[in-house]
Amino acid sequence: MKTMIRSMFKGAGRYPWYNSFFGVPLIDLGVGGTPALRGIFTPEPEIGAEKIGISDQFLANAEDYHQRYSGSEHMKDVLEQAFTHAGVSMASSPDVLDIGTGSGTNSLLPMLSLFDHARFVATDLSPDLLVILRRYVERESLSDRVACVCTDAMNSFFAPARFDMVTGVSLLHHLIDPAAAIKAAHAALKKGGVAVFCDPFEGYGMIGLTFRLILDRATREGLDLNPEAADFMRAMIIDFDARRGTDKSDVRFRYMDDKWLFTREYLEDVACDAGFASVSILPHANNETYFRDYTTVLFRLGRDLKPDALPDWAWDTIDLIDRSFSPEMKSALLMEGSIILKK
Ligand SMILES: C[S@@+](CC[C@H](N)C(=O)[O-])C[C@H]1O[C@@H](n2cnc3c(N)ncnc32)[C@H](O)[C@@H]1O
Repeated sequence: MKTMIRSMFKGAGRYPWYNSFFGVPLIDLGVGGTPALRGIFTPEPEIGAEKIGISDQFLANAEDYHQRYSGSEHMKDVLEQAFTHAGVSMASSPDVLDIGTGSGTNSLLPMLSLFDHARFVATDLSPDLLVILRRYVERESLSDRVACVCTDAMNSFFAPARFDMVTGVSLLHHLIDPAAAIKAAHAALKKGGVAVFCDPFEGYGMIGLTFRLILDRATREGLDLNPEAADFMRAMIIDFDARRGTDKSDVRFRYMDDKWLFTREYLEDVACDAGFASVSILPHANNETYFRDYTTVLFRLGRDLKPDALPDWAWDTIDLIDRSFSPEMKSALLMEGSIILKK
């Protein structure tokens, strides 16, 4: 009966389909608020709440961020692999909660092309990024399939056990308390449902160590290094060191966007505490040029630097680290992985 009523009013705006996924009323942020936010909803208890733990990168500078970090094709492969591993059929029509959607480029867009009939409740703490997503949804006439909701992933204002899947691409490591989001995902999922998250791990410490070796050798032997590349390596060493470990109580984490590099153990423990029946972690790569490839991507995304910003002797050091580990050990030293949780 509910399905009949829902389909009668689908698209008519009189019974918005996404309301039934929430346990509290949803408020349109554009009505009586900021007109530019029309079509972006928020759970009533979150109206006026302070946004803790995100910076202007995701708020005032949302448009820049959106332009810089689009890589849908790569993420489509990664997500397809994770869904296949989880036994999710791409021919199914799941109701999906995508948390930390942002403008959707690396999570929602690949999933829209993987699942022709899924519906998505796309949530994020940044209304600015959701505005970009909303524009896309309207342009592509996807309002019947995608709802944009501004909410903190550590909150849980969802109706219990309504979603078939929960996804989060590059979200958990931004949270002060990822365990709260994993618990909320568990509560939102139907029994047998699957959660998939993609996040960075402490294996990045190996790149930090390589950067230390390169900087030390340049100093010791008086070798030239591109100042921008040297500065970037120093910044990454500090960043990797700060994100290690599980204690995020220091006040600085409220102002840092990237807060975590995970370990398998931490994620297994919090998933188990949340009540998930199983946890698997799939490394995104373990190939011969594993450390070289991740270093190249870091330089590009971090400072727009090309590989020739590092001299050959520095790449030799990185290649030596690559030659020192088998693919199996590279999987253990994982830097980016998909976390697959089954309820
Ligand atoms: C690296 S971006 C990933 C965006 C998107 N999933 C993608 O892959 O294209 C991280 C996202 O997490 C969001 N975010 C950060 N803290 C959050 C929180 N506490 N609750 C919900 N979203 C949050 C940011 O606004 C940003 O959109």
